[in-house]
Amino acid sequence: MNKHPIPILLDGDPGHDDAIAWVLANASPMLDIRGVTSVCGNQTIEKTTYNALRIMALVGLNAPMAMGRTKPLIGEPIIAPTVHGNSGLDGPVLPEPAQKPLSIDASQLMAQVLEQSDEPVTIVPTGPLTNVASLLLSRPDLKPKIARISLMGGGIAFGNWTPAAEFNILVDPEAADIVFKSGVPITMAGLDVTEQALVFPEDFARIRAVGNHVAIVVADWLAFFYQFHRSMGYPGAPVHDAVAVAALIAPEILQKTDMYVQIELAGDFCRGATLGDRFGVLKKPANATVLTGIDRQAFVDLLVDAIKTYGEVAK
Ligand code: RIB
Ligand code: CA
Repeated sequence: MNKHPIPILLDGDPGHDDAIAWVLANASPMLDIRGVTSVCGNQTIEKTTYNALRIMALVGLNAPMAMGRTKPLIGEPIIAPTVHGNSGLDGPVLPEPAQKPLSIDASQLMAQVLEQSDEPVTIVPTGPLTNVASLLLSRPDLKPKIARISLMGGGIAFGNWTPAAEFNILVDPEAADIVFKSGVPITMAGLDVTEQALVFPEDFARIRAVGNHVAIVVADWLAFFYQFHRSMGYPGAPVHDAVAVAALIAPEILQKTDMYVQIELAGDFCRGATLGDRFGVLKKPANATVLTGIDRQAFVDLLVDAIKTYGEVAK
C-alpha cells in the first residue's frame, strides 16, 4: 500500500547534482514537493534561480518557487564555476522557465508552506544553509512544523573546498551553525557518504539509453559534471545532492550513525569544518544522523528507475 507521501521543500543552488536530486525527488510518489527555493552557492542567486526554474520546467514540477538571499549571512559569496560552469548548469540546452519566482523571498515561502501544511514538512537543502537559517531566525515558532532537515553538506572525515570544509558549509558556516544548533532533526549527507555515491561513465550510458527527454539531459549533466571530477582523479561523478533525497525514499540503501556535530566558525585553516564527536567524548546529545555509507549500485538503480518515469520512448 502506498504510504502517505512526505511533504517536502527543495532548497538548492543548481548545480548539476542539485538538478539530479530534484529529478529524483519529483519522480518519487513518496514525496510531495510543496515548494522550491534557490540559494546562492554554486553560482550567483540570479543564476541558481534561473537554473531552478529551468529544471522545474524540464521535469514538469509545478510548485511555488522563491529566490533566496543574495549572499551568505556573513561574508561574501563563494561560487564554483570550475565545477558547474559559468551558468551554474553548463551542458545541455534546457527549456526556458515556465513560471516566475514569487515576490516573497525563500525563507518567507518556506514559512508559508510550513504554516499552511496540516503536518510537519521535511526540508531538503542541497546548497549553503542560508535560507534555512533565515527561516529559523525569523520564525522559530515554526520549528515544530519542520519534520526533518535532510541536507547535503559537511564531511566528518574531510572537506572538498578546503582540506577541512565542504563547499555548502564553507559558503555559510554561521547558517550551518544555526541549523545544527536548532534542535530540528537532521540527516546529514556529507562527503563521507556522497563521495561513495559515484555514477560511472557506464552508468551515464545506461541512463542515456532510457531515451526520454529527461534521460538525455541527465546523461549530459553527468558528462559535464564528471569533467571536473575526472580531472581530480575520481572514477565517476559523485552525485552529492541526490543522497539527501535518497535518504528519504530509500533509507535502506544507506548506513548511518547518530552523533553530535559542531561547526567551526573561526580558525585560520578550519572555518566551515563539520566536527563529528564519533565517540561521544563531549557528552553532548547527538544532533544529527550522519550518513556513512551507501549501496552504490542501488543508488544508481534508484536514479535510473526515477528517470524511466519521465516517459518510455517507443523503440
Ligand atoms: O560539496 C558538494 C556540494 O557543493 C553540492 O551540493 C554541490 O552542488 C555544491 O553545492
Ligand atoms: Ca548543491
